[in-house]
Amino acid sequence: MIEFDLTKLEALPKRERAHLVNNLCGLRSANLVGTSDGHNNNLAIFNSVMHLGSNPPLLGIVFRPLTVERHTYNNIKETKYFSVNQIIDTITNNAHQTSAKFENKQSEFESCNIESLHREGCVVPFVKESNIQMLCTYSKEHLLENDCILLTATIERFWVNSASINKSYWLNHEKASSSAIGGLDTYYKVSLIDRYSYAQPNSKPKSILE
Ligand SMILES: Cc1cc2nc3c(=O)[nH]c(=O)nc-3n(C[C@H](O)[C@H](O)[C@H](O)COP(=O)(O)O)c2cc1C
Repeated sequence: MIEFDLTKLEALPKRERAHLVNNLCGLRSANLVGTSDGHNNNLAIFNSVMHLGSNPPLLGIVFRPLTVERHTYNNIKETKYFSVNQIIDTITNNAHQTSAKFENKQSEFESCNIESLHREGCVVPFVKESNIQMLCTYSKEHLLENDCILLTATIERFWVNSASINKSYWLNHEKASSSAIGGLDTYYKVSLIDRYSYAQPNSKPKSILE
């Protein structure tokens, strides 16, 4: 094993240090967040979308400090709505490109070759290729000690590709072609290992895969 402490970490070049620390906690979810300012659609990649609770369905997104203009954050504050769209493994290159600093008026859908989907009654755009799509409403925000913002939101509606969900509503991310993100630049395919029954102290893990 290679040991790192804060002194060793601080001695690394800035970029390498950031990548290493960003990778430490493991793979993260890969989503495109769709917003609108009322005139222009916006799409950006986020690896910090996380499940926070099921009842009500609550998720969180971490935004970097507001030291530069952040279109996604501003649009959410303005309209209170956003879409979260899972990144399938064949569009990771185009999805990654949405992290470039585009002008507000320039749509990432066109610039990054990602097909948008309009859903009836929704002010925000969705990603057509995504097998999991959610419509979310702003709830609260929490300032973190590093000036990042944890924004929480409720999931109002969602759509799941029928081939990815079974009759007991178990969602299979391998079938949904979900990808995962390492750090800020590495993309992985998801492959299923097993599914287990609820763990009990006195019984062995039991596979419940059908
Ligand atoms: C793999 C990856 C993951 C990212 N995750 C986040 C994130 O969780 N939070 C964030 O604020 N920015 C994140 N970014 C950076 C945004 O995608 C980038 O700042 C983008 O330009 C934001 O666009 P906007 O100004 O239209 O909101 C990520 C970038 C990459 C490449």
